[in-house]
Amino acid sequence: MATSMTLSRLREMKVQGEKIVCLTAYDASFGRLLDGAGVDVILVGDSLGMVIQGHSTTVPVTMEDMVYHSQAVAKGNRMALLMVDMPFMACPTVDLALVNATRLMQEGGAQVVKLEGGGVQLEIVTELARRSIPVCAHLGLQPQSVHKLGGYRVQGREAEAAKAMLDSALALEAAGTDMLLLECVPETLATAISQAVSVPVIGIGAGVGCDGQVLVLHDILGVTAGKVPRFSKNYMVGAESIAEAVGHYVAEVRDGSFPDEAHWFS
Ligand code: KIV
Repeated sequence: MATSMTLSRLREMKVQGEKIVCLTAYDASFGRLLDGAGVDVILVGDSLGMVIQGHSTTVPVTMEDMVYHSQAVAKGNRMALLMVDMPFMACPTVDLALVNATRLMQEGGAQVVKLEGGGVQLEIVTELARRSIPVCAHLGLQPQSVHKLGGYRVQGREAEAAKAMLDSALALEAAGTDMLLLECVPETLATAISQAVSVPVIGIGAGVGCDGQVLVLHDILGVTAGKVPRFSKNYMVGAESIAEAVGHYVAEVRDGSFPDEAHWFS
């Protein structure tokens, strides 16, 4: 009989070199479909601000939005680990981070909360970990900082930035993060970070050397309006149904054929 996904099972998968499959979902129907397709981790991402609400960034997404969508996905999901984003400015202080993470867990059904940021989040990650709140720290491209960054760009290309990201990953692990997520990071750096830490590392546009992969559901189903990131792949091409497309994604992440070089950055 299949058992529910846990953080310790994800760590075991890392040790055994079994790839972790993660995908975003925002409602109960897709929560059920992804869970049935064998996705290990379902991420209720604040990307919902763009693909569900039609905003041009994730910045307008609120705690209420995250709780609402998390509750919906939780109703459809049975076995996958449910990870939920802390939206923009949900962690301005340790106290507010604790309050908001608690809401995502108690009201939204989250089993892991994901927050963007490196060094600046160390104190918060330490405190969440101390209170037994599972955390995934999101490094590399942090979409909530898009206005500061001036666009969605690959992060960590220069030696100094690469070293800073590796140092942040190690510091976040020491602070107690349970997982890392690397977005838009050169493949060699993402591989080095994945090998340097013992917690599972999920990549998006970060190459095949990560312990697992995540993509945005609407991108892989070919329904995202406007530009789709180069690292994503439309799995509806050649598929007869959404379930088959998701199944192909799961299979390709599992056997390491996704991502290939066309879907990562050097
Ligand atoms: O919000 C989201 O969907 C994410 C992914 C891009 C990793 O954070």
